[in-house]
Amino acid sequence: MIFGLMAFSAQAGDVEYGRHLSSECAACHGAAKSDSAIPNIYGLGEAHLADVLKAYRAKALPNEAMQNIAGRLRDDDIAALAAYFATAKKPK
Ligand code: HEC
Repeated sequence: MIFGLMAFSAQAGDVEYGRHLSSECAACHGAAKSDSAIPNIYGLGEAHLADVLKAYRAKALPNEAMQNIAGRLRDDDIAALAAYFATAKKPK
């Protein structure tokens, strides 16, 4: 048996948890068209997603809606969301 090798890292984002958290994001970002003010976030780089969410949380980026949303996220929520959106396809 090799179960001992299957250690989970608390740092790596949990994609399934990210998918769960992402329903709130999809309300805006899932509906984003190429000509709208809401940027596409599906398929962005994981590190970029995490950096941007932390910047909104720190109010280092200026969008009030994103500041409020990111303000409620813990580090592992951000890691999970970044892991999910990096691999997720935009809903049609
Ligand atoms: C109320 C609508 C709304 C919701 C809900 C929302 N966002 Fe946003 N988001 C925006 C808007 C608008 C921008 C663009 C802000 C700007 O251009 O200043 C943005 C920008 C971003 C960016 C920056 C993209 C880039 O390339 O710079 C990321 C990442 C992001 N949102 C992630 C999320 C995540 C993850 C969630 C869910 C936890 C979420 N958003 C929920 C409206 C929303």
